[in-house]
Amino acid sequence: MTELRKQIESLAVESGKKLIAADHSSLQGVRITTKTGRRDLVTSMDLEIQRFLMTKLVELVPGCRFLCEEYIPEMGDVVITDPKEIDRGTCFIIDPIDGTANFVHGNRHSCTSIAMTTDGVTQIGVIYDPYRDELFSAAKGKGSFLNGEKLPVYDCSMSEEISVFGTAPYDDSTNKPTFDLGLLLYEMSADVRRTGSAALDCCWTACGRFGLYAELSLSAWDFAAGKLIAEEAGCLVSDIHGRPLSFHGKPSILCGRPTAVSEFLKEYKG
Ligand code: IPD
Ligand code: CA
Ligand code: CA
Repeated sequence: MTELRKQIESLAVESGKKLIAADHSSLQGVRITTKTGRRDLVTSMDLEIQRFLMTKLVELVPGCRFLCEEYIPEMGDVVITDPKEIDRGTCFIIDPIDGTANFVHGNRHSCTSIAMTTDGVTQIGVIYDPYRDELFSAAKGKGSFLNGEKLPVYDCSMSEEISVFGTAPYDDSTNKPTFDLGLLLYEMSADVRRTGSAALDCCWTACGRFGLYAELSLSAWDFAAGKLIAEEAGCLVSDIHGRPLSFHGKPSILCGRPTAVSEFLKEYKG
């Protein structure tokens, strides 16, 4: 498992190098299109990184299946179509670029996120931020690491820490509740942030830059690796009401230190 994790980490770092190279060339040659709506962007770099990762991971773990954000037609036979398939065998849940809007607008806050599950349980989570050269990595029961340093497990209250929220930008029905949530977080915390990368929001909560992260609608690839990294660093991760998070559908997320999470759940009326 340790060897496999190292290989996955190397692939995440290689993916990051592709992102940085595109960034340095001012996205020359990168095609940008929309998917479900004007905010939901996909670039040729999302597709290139996902194709690269799927090809390499199939070589590493023959017989594995994939749940990924983008659709790569030639890899169609290894893609999960029925969500129940995540519950058996080995699956990789991949977001080739989490923070695509940041990438497109030059905000330099994006990452590649890779989770590996066996029989529905996440065993490995790897997230690489090429802009800061930060590699977050966790294996189930073995703790979480940032660039090889184990992250400490500790507790804190919301008022001591900055909270972060995501705007669930692809679902306009969440606009009002999202900004009500932002106000509640602001009132309960030291301050609030919106970064544009759910995976890094989980990682930054895991390493203590944030005390709590919440968002009203995500997909499995946004949080699968980040959930394990946060949990292995002592955070609780659930849906916004404190219920177990599912890889199926578009769940909300709540991720934070135990005391911060219980304080939030007492006040949240959404
Ligand atoms: C998005 C980012 C964003 C979050 C959205 C995600 P993408 O992922 O993580 O922070 O608010 O809900 O979909 O589209 O950049 O991969
Ligand atoms: Ca994402
Ligand atoms: Ca993405």
